[in-house]
Amino acid sequence: MNAVTQDTHTHDYKVRDIALAELGRRRIRMAEEEMPGLMRIRARYAQSKPLKGVRLSGSLHMTKETAVLIETLNTLGASVRWASCNIFSTQDDCAAAIAAAGIPVFAWKGETLEEYWDCTLDMLTHPGDGTHNVRGPELIVDDGGDATLLIHKGVDMENGDNWVNTPGANHEEQVIKNLLKRTAKERPGFWKKVAAGWKGVSEETTTGVHRLYQMMEAGKLLVPAINVNDSVTKSKFDNLYGCRESLADGIKRATDLMVAGKVAVVCGYGDVGKGCAHSLKGFGARVIITEIDPINALQAAMEGFQVATVEDTLGIADIYVTTTGNKDIITLEHMAAMKNNALVCNIGHFDNEIQMDRLNTARDVTRENIKPQVDRYTFGVTSSNNGGHSIYMLAEGRLVNLGCAHGHPSFVMSNSFSNQTLAQLDLWANKDKYEKTVYRLPKKLDEEVARLHLEQIGVKLTKLTPEQAAYIGVPVEGPYKPDHYRY
Ligand code: NAD
Ligand code: ADE
Repeated sequence: MNAVTQDTHTHDYKVRDIALAELGRRRIRMAEEEMPGLMRIRARYAQSKPLKGVRLSGSLHMTKETAVLIETLNTLGASVRWASCNIFSTQDDCAAAIAAAGIPVFAWKGETLEEYWDCTLDMLTHPGDGTHNVRGPELIVDDGGDATLLIHKGVDMENGDNWVNTPGANHEEQVIKNLLKRTAKERPGFWKKVAAGWKGVSEETTTGVHRLYQMMEAGKLLVPAINVNDSVTKSKFDNLYGCRESLADGIKRATDLMVAGKVAVVCGYGDVGKGCAHSLKGFGARVIITEIDPINALQAAMEGFQVATVEDTLGIADIYVTTTGNKDIITLEHMAAMKNNALVCNIGHFDNEIQMDRLNTARDVTRENIKPQVDRYTFGVTSSNNGGHSIYMLAEGRLVNLGCAHGHPSFVMSNSFSNQTLAQLDLWANKDKYEKTVYRLPKKLDEEVARLHLEQIGVKLTKLTPEQAAYIGVPVEGPYKPDHYRY
């Protein structure tokens, strides 16, 4: 482990190099200037401090934008601890700046899975008061659901569930099981105590939201949750316009590849897929979409994209991007049949869209590391096709925009993180009222988040007259659309 670790009575952190803090602080200031929504919300609540003393833990990519979110939650009074939600996404200078500001952060770029889950535990472990050794968070900001999963699995274990003692389905699952078994020995009863004090979670991304609805439907959700992803100013901005810029950033920083003239395959045409497909088309690639949903497939066709299967593209395509949030989208057999030097990457939340485990253990396939997060795999003559060709894999199949570049630009993240902050305020204000179910923020707040971003980009809104408002049946001050409206 290369991280610098410091533990004192006043604060604790694990970051790559605390000496990077000044650089991180300068980049965080630049981000603040591009995050008008979040900064306005910070200013609005700085005096009243509605989260005063609240123990808040976050599991979300430790970038400069997240630093602005962390310091906003801190300014609102929360006692914040943070870890990244991906082993490659931390910007080490920004993590150092947060640590230097006295906020406990546990994250560095290039964690092992064991280190990642230890950091998750550190992030969930708040210092105790006179009567408690250590305590859990009252609120959680989650991205992908790992913090939520760890608590739920910990509670199951303490209720006698045997899952931790069964063999892990993969290396990461075994790491989680080992960590939970360690906590059972070192701090018995910890997870039930965490659950008892936990008031709510706001979830950032599509995949994490799927997990929440699954838990809710199974009757297992331990706390009220807010689905931030499906605020219009999140999914229709971050997932779409964010990926439209950060996918190409990841591919270019990793490889300098000329995109124009290439054949690119985008698997999935949801919000992320749409952003990726339009970006690659804008660079001059010929883009092919794969989809399972007839509505999205038809949308892609109406936007001028060819829609085909992955199998149809093998030997033809130069670039593959998975965006589905599903698993086994690119199989080992697909990679074995790809064109020489095809570039393969994923921008969906987890690392199972591409069969990395099978690729890494395949017979007669060799891996050459070009630089961090860029690998060339060469298929030998005895591999499952005739062999002799190579593919390039970015970020070991993890999200390429955060593994190989700096994720989405600050302006779009200001929308996402304004929603996150409003969700945290809402969960805390309604902690005694909300049920253990998944909520969404009201449309009025969605419109408010958009409104907070207009001035910076010179947008001038037309004002509805009372007569016009009455004619279309909406209040002059909004909300302007029914909940079922699709933007
Ligand atoms: P979405 O549900 O809008 O889109 C996913 C699409 O994939 C759907 O249209 C679905 O029909 C399609 N799909 C599912 N299985 C498929 C298969 N086998 N083959 C082809 N298509 C298939 O979700 P989204 O909001 O676009 O998010 C996609 C993923 O990206 C999620 O994991 C999400 O968490 C993640 N995400 C990543 C970033 C990032 O910065 N990297 C940002 C936002 C979301
Ligand atoms: N997700 C996508 N881009 C991001 C960023 N810049 N910061 C945090 N989370 C992100």
